[in-house]
Amino acid sequence: MKFRRSVVVLAVGLTALLGAQTGAAGATVPPLRDSAKPPGGTAVPPDSLRALASKVGLRIGTAVNTDALATNAKYRQITADQFSTVTPENVMKWQVVEPTKGAYDWSAADQLVKFAKANGQLVRGHTLVWQNQLPTWLTAGNYTSTQLRHLLRKHITDEVTHFRGHIWQWDVVNEAFNDDGTMRDTIWLRAMGPSYIADAFRWAHQADPRALLFYNDYNIEGMGAKSDAVYLLAKQLRAQGVPINGIGAQGHLDTKYGFPNQMRQNLQRFADLGLKVALTEVDVRTTVPVTTPEQLAQNADYSQMLEACLLVRACISYTVWGFGDAFSWVPGVFAGEGSADIYDENLQPKASYFALQQTLMLASGAPHR
Ligand code: G3I
Repeated sequence: MKFRRSVVVLAVGLTALLGAQTGAAGATVPPLRDSAKPPGGTAVPPDSLRALASKVGLRIGTAVNTDALATNAKYRQITADQFSTVTPENVMKWQVVEPTKGAYDWSAADQLVKFAKANGQLVRGHTLVWQNQLPTWLTAGNYTSTQLRHLLRKHITDEVTHFRGHIWQWDVVNEAFNDDGTMRDTIWLRAMGPSYIADAFRWAHQADPRALLFYNDYNIEGMGAKSDAVYLLAKQLRAQGVPINGIGAQGHLDTKYGFPNQMRQNLQRFADLGLKVALTEVDVRTTVPVTTPEQLAQNADYSQMLEACLLVRACISYTVWGFGDAFSWVPGVFAGEGSADIYDENLQPKASYFALQQTLMLASGAPHR
């Protein structure tokens, strides 16, 4: 009863908010190609997340575990049916694509790009500049600052060139800030100073001028010290003519911390700089076993993040960081927590899946992107 009442409130609230924005949206933005229909002509289920979202031009995505994609037919079917964009969870990271210096291995990522094409999906490339999942030859190589700069330039150029024309959005720089808004101490900051960020965007743009280039981070969904710092960075990069096109807010929430502060307004301020925004790695972890209040909080977090995105026309995709609890990164990192995804361990849809589905069903008045 309580749950049903909150759904009604959500429906009324979302309709009112969406209605208020429809007029401002204008009708001049060309729609993306129909993300509800793969090129082969086989329609995806009409009540799938991708089909429902395509009505307002929003892409719904998932991070993909390419081992599961290769071996698990049910996983493959859900990936194709429910999502209109895919992100490689690991296989475009430096450690995977260049395990030995100068010897590239694009095989797993190429397979995913092929799968996406066959299923009418766009690809988010993830990620070019990060401090994690770097190959050992690089981190243990005792390279000078000048050498590291050349290595980073070559990495970005080679990877973006390899996938040129196949990537919709690239996460060019990932997680460069600490939660207090200071810059994270990384191999890249130490070698090059803060200008490595602008350089990375310039190099990526040279290699694929048509890809949308994103800065991507966690804990920047709402207003706060970290999102203020990213906002300032984005503003400076735009003012300097650096080719940055978007900001990715990852969306890794935990029920114990509540919902981010003023998320819609925060996304909108980035949009007002002339940038696209995206929810890039959504999941909502909680303690396990999950209690009813925690599950309700998860449902609400998933759908409220989607609502914030729907209400900002520049928000072009909403990506979950994997869809099945059996494949989630969460239990391996947060002891005692899990159940963060929208499908359970047996790939059955959970209440949070239905919460997203219902939010999309109510979203027909949202501005078309
Ligand atoms: O591939 C090796 C395998 O050969 C080895 O046997 C095994 C032993 O542990 O490790 C495998 O690598 C693991 C890799 O995932 C692939 O499964 C790494 O140990 C493991 O650390 C790695 O975790 C990934 C994590 O990034 C690394 O920081 C997660 O799958 C991935 O979901 C997570 O994704 C990040 C985003 O890229 C950035 N934002 C945060 C997000 C969550 O941490």
